[in-house]
Amino acid sequence: MRSIFITGGASGIGLAAARRFKREGWTVGIGDIDGIGMGRVADELGVFTAPLDVRDRAQWAAALDGFVAKAGKLDVLLNNAGIARYGMFEEVTPDESDLQVDINVKGVINGAYAALPYLKESRGRRLVNVASVAGIVGSPGLATYSATKHAVRGLTEALDAEWTRHGIDVTCVMPFFVETPILDAGSKGSNRTIRDAIGKSPVYTVEDAAEMIWRAVHGREREYIVGKAGRQASFARRFMPGRLRKRMKAAFAG
Ligand code: NAI
Repeated sequence: MRSIFITGGASGIGLAAARRFKREGWTVGIGDIDGIGMGRVADELGVFTAPLDVRDRAQWAAALDGFVAKAGKLDVLLNNAGIARYGMFEEVTPDESDLQVDINVKGVINGAYAALPYLKESRGRRLVNVASVAGIVGSPGLATYSATKHAVRGLTEALDAEWTRHGIDVTCVMPFFVETPILDAGSKGSNRTIRDAIGKSPVYTVEDAAEMIWRAVHGREREYIVGKAGRQASFARRFMPGRLRKRMKAAFAG
């Protein structure tokens, strides 16, 4: 039986992934900072849970030790936990920016360090990082968040090459907007949230995201975008950067 440990598995995309992999017969473990949410998931799915703040390396060691003691091995780590703060750059406080970097970047790096010894020993061997379409296109209103997700993409690309010698593939999932509580994120200096800024853009389901995570665990590509709008944004960034820049600047000119 294959095994996956999912960070941020108490809510949103991580929870949908936990449900999906459990349904497919995998041994699933989740780690989250939200103990109450994890309790609900444990009741629903009967999966292994571990208290985990991804910023805390000692908790990482304990969580993965505990999971491997139960599952026998770690085939896949899904580095999914992440937070956002919405607002113009100067509305988001430096502390709020630090927090995003600490969780979204350092938390993912901590996970890669903690999981490597276990992944080396398993046959499934994959690290999957959840970035964002904001990691492809610098996203106004989400400047620091966007920077953290670009970092996750860069880390993924570098580790995917480096860890070839360990037989480990490293892949990245990049969702467009997905209906989860993260869409209600604002910031101390702004009374707007991500949801207010979505406008006419589509919002995808957590099941769409879980399907892409499933593919990222099994497929041969390095990057998996959730949602057609995300693939269009990626195309525009690559082939029409001038037009995209003009459109983005026009939206924020006032
Ligand atoms: P969510 O807010 O529903 O779930 C995030 C989970 O991470 C929560 O259970 C939360 O308790 C946990 N978490 C937060 N800080 C943590 C920490 N320090 N240690 C451990 N767990 C922590 O949000 P969602 O949307 O499911 O987010 C999952 C990932 O998807 C994030 O990395 C996010 O940036 C990314 N993403 C989400 C998009 C969306 O529109 N929902 C779009 C693009 C990317």
